[in-house]
Amino acid sequence: MTTTTAPAPTAARSDLRRAAVRVLLANATGSATVPSRSLYPHQWSWDSAFVALGLARLSPRRAQRELETLLGAQWADGRVPHIVFNPAVPAGAYFPGPDFWRSSRAGAAAGAPRRTETSGIVQPPVHALAAWLVHRAAPDASDRRGFLRRVYPRLRAWHRYLARERDHGGTGLVSVIHPWEAGMDNSPCWDGPLSRVVPAPAASFRRADLTHASAADRPTDLDYGRYVSLAAAYRDQGYRDGPPAGPAAFAVEDPGFNALLAASAEALAAIARTLGEDPGEHRATAAALRTALTARLWCPERGQFLCRDVTAAALVGERSVTGLLPLLVPGLPPEAVAALTATLTGPHFGLGTTTRLAPSYDLRAPGYDGSRYWRGPAWANTNWLLERGLRQYGDTARADALAEALLDSAAATGFAEYTDPLTGEGRGTRDFAWTAAVALDLLARAKERR
Ligand code: SER
Repeated sequence: MTTTTAPAPTAARSDLRRAAVRVLLANATGSATVPSRSLYPHQWSWDSAFVALGLARLSPRRAQRELETLLGAQWADGRVPHIVFNPAVPAGAYFPGPDFWRSSRAGAAAGAPRRTETSGIVQPPVHALAAWLVHRAAPDASDRRGFLRRVYPRLRAWHRYLARERDHGGTGLVSVIHPWEAGMDNSPCWDGPLSRVVPAPAASFRRADLTHASAADRPTDLDYGRYVSLAAAYRDQGYRDGPPAGPAAFAVEDPGFNALLAASAEALAAIARTLGEDPGEHRATAAALRTALTARLWCPERGQFLCRDVTAAALVGERSVTGLLPLLVPGLPPEAVAALTATLTGPHFGLGTTTRLAPSYDLRAPGYDGSRYWRGPAWANTNWLLERGLRQYGDTARADALAEALLDSAAATGFAEYTDPLTGEGRGTRDFAWTAAVALDLLARAKERR
């Protein structure tokens, strides 16, 4: 892949727009959108938030419905589950499916919906930001249906759940209790904390993902055994939260998750103001998260944020793209913005030199693997977040180049799930919903700027 950023011809961009629309329509189930017909045939939480951003450029009504369907499966305790299962999909199509999570029974005490099956863990809280952007893309269509009024109480309950139940470190940052909650399943950041978890025996479950994607692009069986073991333990305690139980407990403060929570708290404040409600709670949360992120997770030597293993009371040394996502948080000190940009464009992530899209993991690390899920490949959603962060801090040239690179990559790979950041080759599945969705959003924004 070259590093030139010359804009592609407009005809190619309208073809890309049409193709992106086709992907979103083909992945639509009626009330929601699946990330991928083959690999992920249900509704996923953070995927749907990114999908809504793309749908907002196509049909505001669909974008609103995408988020409302997800929020419709919210638990009474406020959690938004990471998967909402579609009962029409055959039982073996995805593992772990509804038979594994058994939310309506195992999660009854925590307030799981009675008639919809979901998973019991969560994913990064990008939803309030998505809701605000969906509103902003078509305010009249939003006002006509009272969209913000409908979603605001649910989004507020979601944020309150995280603050109330997941502050395991006691400093205001939210902990993830399963790698899937951070959305970056097999990131090397989890290797240390996960090594303490006894894996479920390989013979006790059957992976469905390897039917649809190359084993070299996916997490290993050993990782899967640990994912299953952690999820089963949470289920078997009725999905009750509480302080990390024992030395093997998985509890990690993830900078990307917390940055999205901070950006979403700012979005919630904007939503509250628009509705004539008091934005104070959300403004205060956003400010507290900003302070805690810097106090707990900033690493000046590495020029980026790191994960913190709460159980072991130590920072995790791995450089993951999650540690650059706080660029999305408004109000960072200029030195932090400069350091994050230097890291993003330096040898570990190579943006603008060896890569056009930021890899998910340190190019220089011995464990870097440009094919395997979150151990190296570049993803459209994280790059969309970085593009937004760069633009917010006035780095227009880099933001423009990143936007062009995302569009070129989507076009060249058939909306690949992820790509090899050094060669640009597609990896994982194709016709991936959020890859198409962020392309639609970027195309619309480029048009607005012209
Ligand atoms: N991303 C996970 C999977 O691969 C869980 O959400 O199934």
